[in-house]
Amino acid sequence: MTAVTRRFFSLRYIAKDYHILLHLFHNISKRISFTNMTDKVIASRIIKTEPINWRNLQFIQQDNFKEWIANGDKKLIESLLKYQFADPFKVWEHEGILYCLDGKHRFMDLSAVAQMGYQIPELLPATFIDCENMKEAAELVLVYSSAYAKITQQGLLEFVQTFDLDFPDMQNLLNIPEFDSIAFEGMLNEFQTGEPSEKIVPASLKDSFIFPPFSVLDTRSGVWQDRKRKWLALGFNSQETREDVELIAKSGQSTAIYELRNKMRESLKREPTWDEIIDYAKQKGMHVYEGASIFDPVLCELLYKWFCTNGGSVLDPFAGGSVRGVVAGVLGYPYEGIDLREDQVEANRKQASILSLENVNWITGDSNEVLDRLSMAADFLMSCPPYADLEKYSDDPKDLSNMDYKDFKEVYFSIIKKSVAHLKEDRFAAFVVGDVRDKKGFYYNFVSDTIQAFKEAGMELYNEIILVNVVGSLAIRVRRQFNGGRKVGKMHQNVLVFYKGDPKKIKGNYPELNLGEDLEALASSE
Ligand SMILES: C[S@@+](CC[C@H](N)C(=O)[O-])C[C@H]1O[C@@H](n2cnc3c(N)ncnc32)[C@H](O)[C@@H]1O
Repeated sequence: MTAVTRRFFSLRYIAKDYHILLHLFHNISKRISFTNMTDKVIASRIIKTEPINWRNLQFIQQDNFKEWIANGDKKLIESLLKYQFADPFKVWEHEGILYCLDGKHRFMDLSAVAQMGYQIPELLPATFIDCENMKEAAELVLVYSSAYAKITQQGLLEFVQTFDLDFPDMQNLLNIPEFDSIAFEGMLNEFQTGEPSEKIVPASLKDSFIFPPFSVLDTRSGVWQDRKRKWLALGFNSQETREDVELIAKSGQSTAIYELRNKMRESLKREPTWDEIIDYAKQKGMHVYEGASIFDPVLCELLYKWFCTNGGSVLDPFAGGSVRGVVAGVLGYPYEGIDLREDQVEANRKQASILSLENVNWITGDSNEVLDRLSMAADFLMSCPPYADLEKYSDDPKDLSNMDYKDFKEVYFSIIKKSVAHLKEDRFAAFVVGDVRDKKGFYYNFVSDTIQAFKEAGMELYNEIILVNVVGSLAIRVRRQFNGGRKVGKMHQNVLVFYKGDPKKIKGNYPELNLGEDLEALASSE
């Protein structure tokens, strides 16, 4: 054998057992990396990737090591069925045993789908990782189990757009606990719909009325969103108080969330922040109101300025969060709000006191009772009632959201009648409502019922404004609801404006508006 052929054969021999070579290389490089820490070398700990009999895998961690998060097992099984086995196990070979460092749930779900009758290959690939000892292997189990990096909303948005992924379709198969799908859909929607050009808002109308008094108000527009930002800046200049404004909006939550807050307070031995409560509630799969229930301050401002007499008083029989009270206080309209939930009223009061607002008051109680003993003659009646049983606010049987639609209507009509009785003659009322489907999928006709309730109380429908909402999570839901039952995605609410008295008196009681100055005042206060 010549020196060349000898060399060739020895190379072939080495190539045959290439993983020994890799191992050697790995150990050498590891040693180099340890001895030359200052050289900042990252050594590869991967020995090889090769098929293994996955059924023989052993596990270092105990059974209760990791809990599934919100249907995680179901999701992983669905994902396995859709995408097949595409991610090798990570293993450590020690004394003839293959320890699984990463892939326990893949193992469990493969066993589960095998029991469902699926055929799984005997051999599946595994990446062999070098470990010094069991302790080091256990460390890796922990490392692979913990989510190091959180996917950022922006990062995911770019990713989905770059690869043109059908995100709504994939979302059910993903399991990203910290991920806020509602906010993400908002971003996706904003990107997809774009913003209507500011040119469509005629300058002169904008100057007089802030937004043209048309029958459609588009909250998605940049002008609207800008106004919203300016609103938050007005009078709430310091960082803390701006946070407080947001805080109060966040605090419009269901009783279950308030119970969670109490429990968190007990275990943390301190007051949890609303962000913490909301994050934790989401992790636990609880329903969190974000956006849907928070009254838009811009809409609130418009309705006060357009339909309330100058500095007139406001009555709100379903107060909810603090927005309507705070905006009234800032603009100088005395405000009386009633809400059943003590917690909510407390939070609202705290907010008003932080902002040193005067003439803003909330009463805790059932409006159907409180209105009987209230002595108030209001200049404007304005509210956003429970939309039938769409959102549950509390367990209180007097809470309208807990009633079946027949009982709901009865109490709702009664509260409207009593509220209208507290409204002065020749005044407006504005109710922001949206229709809701019953269990069969038919609309209750809640909007028409509201009109009927006001009519029976002695007020006539005077304006109807369609409030166009940001699409938000609708982009996710619409595919299923349309394909599953031809239900179009509802992205509007109805602002119903009623009038009590003689319409001829409107001109005298409500002067010509020139709100351009207000706009400038708002802008300069930033
Ligand atoms: C649609 S929510 C208000 C949410 C509102 N969009 C906001 O600005 O926060 C309706 C409110 O009505 C309250 N409510 C329900 N039944 C009531 C009743 N019988 N008397 C007074 N308030 C009631 C609920 O507690 C809830 O806060």
